[in-house]
Amino acid sequence: MTKITYFAHDGTEFTVEAEDGSTVMENAIKNAVPGIEAECGGACACATCHVYVDEAWTETVGEPEAMEEDMLDFAYDVQPNSRLSCQIKVRPELDGLVVRVPERQA
Ligand code: FES
Repeated sequence: MTKITYFAHDGTEFTVEAEDGSTVMENAIKNAVPGIEAECGGACACATCHVYVDEAWTETVGEPEAMEEDMLDFAYDVQPNSRLSCQIKVRPELDGLVVRVPERQA
């Protein structure tokens, strides 16, 4: 299990134990983290699972693939550390990962 901390836009903290191989989006939904909508269910086709990866984690999480990059254009207030959380696979190196939920989705 890998620990992930989400900060909702109002600053509420949600720390969850995530199964490796699942996605950061799936764990947000499972734990009712507010602000993650994930309308397409993880198909990289909606951009409503947008999160900001904490600066300390951007390198470990890695860069988005081209398809995700294109879809991110539809997200609200995209920053250099923006990712679609359905495209981040939970793995042991991400233990302690911190992500923040934007003010709103697309
Ligand atoms: Fe739709 Fe991530 S859930 S793009």
